[in-house]
Amino acid sequence: MTSADAAAIARWWYSPPYEMYSFTPEDEDWLLRPELRYHAAFDEHQELVGYFCYGEDARIPAATELGLYADESLLDVGLGMRPDRTGQGLGPAFLSAGLEFGQRNFGPDGFRLTVAAWNSRAVRLYERSGFSATGAFTVQEAGRSFLVMTRLTPRSDQARSPH
Ligand SMILES: CC(C)(COP(=O)(O)OP(=O)(O)OC[C@H]1O[C@@H](n2cnc3c(N)ncnc32)[C@H](O)[C@@H]1OP(=O)(O)O)[C@@H](O)C(=O)NCCC(=O)NCCS
Repeated sequence: MTSADAAAIARWWYSPPYEMYSFTPEDEDWLLRPELRYHAAFDEHQELVGYFCYGEDARIPAATELGLYADESLLDVGLGMRPDRTGQGLGPAFLSAGLEFGQRNFGPDGFRLTVAAWNSRAVRLYERSGFSATGAFTVQEAGRSFLVMTRLTPRSDQARSPH
């Protein structure tokens, strides 16, 4: 992710009910922190169409405390498509590109996603892409429920990874 990518993504705005997924301009530096492994995604015309992050920033602390991320062989993934590209059936291709990149570069045994339970658009995409819910929790103060969804990588695909 370059500074220009981060500046653009930090200014994307998701309309209700998805506004909680929007960053703010102050998040620009956050997106550039190398240890959080944010990556920008581009389409075939080199247009910025989304981002993925791999690891720590794709986790919610309450779930860590509950032991829902105990399996360290799985890679946590966070993602967002450019707001004007959402809801048009582009999700499967976008997700699969981000997972392929994650598999190739980090070689996990599988992937894990944490998603707001009400976000049926995302949950549906993840189910269709082979993920299933392996945990659920509610953040008490906020009264918000989340699902933890996982998908194991077939052994033959793991063998092609660098590990
Ligand atoms: C989550 C995200 C990747 C999904 O991709 P998308 O291209 O918008 O989703 P799609 O258009 O492919 O739709 C996925 C499924 O949800 C369904 N869907 C679309 N809009 C929906 C809605 N408002 N409510 C419920 N289901 C919906 C679609 O019909 C499709 O189901 P199907 O495969 O049975 O046809 C994308 O919306 C995104 O990046 N959003 C940003 C915010 C966000 O929700 N992040 C989630 C982080 S965990």
